[in-house]
Amino acid sequence: MDRIAITGGARLMGEIPISGAKNSAIKLMAASLLTDEPLRLTNMPRLADTRLLARLLRRLGTEVVEQDGENGPETILHTREIVSALAPYDLVRQMRASFNVLGPLIARTGHAKVSLPGGCTIGARPVDLHLEALRALGASIDLHEGYVYAQAPRGLIGAEIAFPFVSVGATEHAMLAAVLAKGTSVLTNAACEPELGDLADCLNAMGAKVSGAGTSTIVIEGVQRLHGATHSVIPDRIETGTYALAAAMAGGEVRLTNTRCDFVDALLVKMEEAGVEVTRHDDGMTIKRNGSRLRAVEIETDPYPGFATDLQAQFMALMTLADGESVIKETIFENRFMHAPELSRLGAEIAVQGGEARVRGVETLEGAPVMATDLRASVSLVIAALAARGETMVSRVYHLDRGFERLEEKLSACGASVRRIAGDGEPED
Ligand code: UD1
Repeated sequence: MDRIAITGGARLMGEIPISGAKNSAIKLMAASLLTDEPLRLTNMPRLADTRLLARLLRRLGTEVVEQDGENGPETILHTREIVSALAPYDLVRQMRASFNVLGPLIARTGHAKVSLPGGCTIGARPVDLHLEALRALGASIDLHEGYVYAQAPRGLIGAEIAFPFVSVGATEHAMLAAVLAKGTSVLTNAACEPELGDLADCLNAMGAKVSGAGTSTIVIEGVQRLHGATHSVIPDRIETGTYALAAAMAGGEVRLTNTRCDFVDALLVKMEEAGVEVTRHDDGMTIKRNGSRLRAVEIETDPYPGFATDLQAQFMALMTLADGESVIKETIFENRFMHAPELSRLGAEIAVQGGEARVRGVETLEGAPVMATDLRASVSLVIAALAARGETMVSRVYHLDRGFERLEEKLSACGASVRRIAGDGEPED
């Protein structure tokens, strides 16, 4: 397995272009199952997760072509017919979001067999809300031996779905299934994340009738068929926030381009409160910090537009060097502080109790060997390492490769000392 070596201490100066959103791209790719015409997705990130979903889609019958378009990387997905409605365990377990092919498969073919998912090790992460939504739309669902067997031979039927709590994946899944249902569906207590709006925009470009995405009530009038379309993936707000925090941690001045400030407003407000200088532009932002020490601030993760849980680990890294004590509350996932003991290996002082972490800022961090435990946790270690004395070696970087495109390249271009050390192909302990 590859490792990443970071020598801390360099200030970051330069520009980082932000890629298309991973969490949007993988749902948009699944949407291609809903039509027999080509779906062209532009501003596509090239990541382990998108490659993995492409592998699954190919098994289902999708022709997937990746190419360099006029405005960057794009992917054309064409599912003339579904050749198999089986999503096997070996692929679905590697990425939870691949479970979202279930709804489109039922909508298009009337049946599907999809493995229950795996994904990041951040809590139990069940799929009960997904299954309830599909049942409400008229699918019969049975669970056997780790697989979901779904049937809707006469097609799905529009329904009112009231989510008991906000779930991004379940809202997306319900939307993907309901666009081809007979009649109208109303989703209440829906997730408002920008990725929902992006999915609705893409589906509407394909001929769907979705309104209200981005608010807590989404109305979907089912249509008989969808057609091909071209759609540009929104910028990755988690990548944006991560590099903003990296710049704040290392100090210097970095301009993030091809992104949107409103997607990360909750983060930017907290960064400003901590003493980071943020200048908002039409196509991104500039993050600046001189040598002065940051102030400790408190955060609580919440569904969008609140503070994103996917930026919690990275923000904790920033707080390890702040002046004072920062309280970090995680309300979305249980067990999402696995980065805390690894950050402590670098000298951070963090006490975790239940869903709350107290970070007492220290004067300096020191490089050490650390291990990535999930996607966002692993990048928090990279951020901390940028400001640590000496070298930090991060192992298990396959987590990073799932969600961050050319991370070493983007950081090195701004002067960071980050290099990948190719592994020998052997799995690590
Ligand atoms: C998505 C994002 C992930 C982000 C999360 C919250 C993708 C690929 N992943 O994950 O990066 O951290 O949103 O912003 O887009 N839950 C249930 N039952 C369900 C579904 C969810 O109990 O059927 C729980 C989860 O365990 C979690 C909470 O609901 O505690 C929110 O999860 P959800 O919003 O569904 O997250 P994901 O869609 O999995």
